[in-house]
Amino acid sequence: MKRKIPAIIALLSALGFAACIQGTAQAEANGANQAASETATEDSSAETDSADFLDAVDSSADAGLPGAFDFETHTVLLNSGYEMPIMGLGTYSLSDEECYNSVTALLEAGGRLIDTAYMYGNEAAVGRAVRDSDVPREEIFVITKLYPGEQFANPEKAIQDALDKLDIGYIDMMLLHHPGENDVKAYQEMEQAVAEGKIHSIGLSNWYVDELEEFLPQVTITPALVQNEIHPYYQENDVIPYIQDLGIVVQGWYPFGGRGHTAELLSDSVISEIAAAHGVTSAQVILRWNLQKGVVVIPGSSNPDHIRENLDLFGFELSDDEMERINALDRGEKHDWY
Ligand SMILES: NC(=O)c1ccc[n+]([C@@H]2O[C@H](COP(=O)([O-])OP(=O)(O)OC[C@H]3O[C@@H](n4cnc5c(N)ncnc54)[C@H](OP(=O)(O)O)[C@@H]3O)[C@@H](O)[C@H]2O)c1
Repeated sequence: MKRKIPAIIALLSALGFAACIQGTAQAEANGANQAASETATEDSSAETDSADFLDAVDSSADAGLPGAFDFETHTVLLNSGYEMPIMGLGTYSLSDEECYNSVTALLEAGGRLIDTAYMYGNEAAVGRAVRDSDVPREEIFVITKLYPGEQFANPEKAIQDALDKLDIGYIDMMLLHHPGENDVKAYQEMEQAVAEGKIHSIGLSNWYVDELEEFLPQVTITPALVQNEIHPYYQENDVIPYIQDLGIVVQGWYPFGGRGHTAELLSDSVISEIAAAHGVTSAQVILRWNLQKGVVVIPGSSNPDHIRENLDLFGFELSDDEMERINALDRGEKHDWY
């Protein structure tokens, strides 16, 4: 995916204004003024930076703020300056062949976002499907993850292994799969890989409020994305705004509750009623509910019909009342341990 308004992102990042860029245009202007006055006593290059910063903030109003979903282009602008699609495909538990076929079906259907991980054992299959596709590489956005243990202990090697297995030139987004020993060290190595152009954006998975408060002061690059479990029975309504207010995009895993739970969620009477009212499926209602909360979706599927259905989310809109009815389904019921 292409990089947009790199000047504003780089400057905001350098000035520690990652949180500010998620706010309103007014808040952004305030931040710009504060940044300008804070740097006023510094040397002449700082003066130039402040002027560039103000110009960049002005132009951001036209360009769209990082974190805001664009329902026309179906993308979100990350705080790294890159655009990412807001719906895609998860590949957890897909075997090599299933994974290759699913990614191929996604790309043929117009989907461009793929989530894999070292732990899923299918990075090579994802890479092969991307390379075999007619879709230009720069239109595709691949996320992979480093796993605690050996990978966090030797992150330089782990990053190179991911690059080699995927074999698609660069990695669009790399996440730490969940907190663990050496996570700061692993993140710092990902920061180095960003500087070297091997990875475009970096982030975290399964980090919640306490974990983020402890982790963020120890790293330089604000994560572009946090990927956590989110579905109607486990909504994270306190965590999502906290993350979004930091200028970080939220992505949900297990949107249908994960295998073993999908039947209950997809046949939930509230969701089924709303689906019937719009002439869509329960799966589409759940995915659309996520998008309207500003949560990026990566449903897993090995069924091309489902993959197409899961991309078809823009012909209807949930009302405030329907959003509230789904919000009321929250049970705080986590379906995995992370
Ligand atoms: N960061 C983490 O710790 C973490 C943890 C878990 C998952 N993830 C990521 O999140 C992704 C999503 O999670 P998940 O795949 O485990 O679970 P999920 O998306 O909640 O559910 C997948 C199940 O839903 C079914 N399904 C998909 N689309 C459907 C549709 N339109 N209608 C009916 N059924 C449908 C699939 O069956 P079919 O194959 O028949 O379509 C599959 O059995 C994963 O693939 C992975 O990329 C991340």
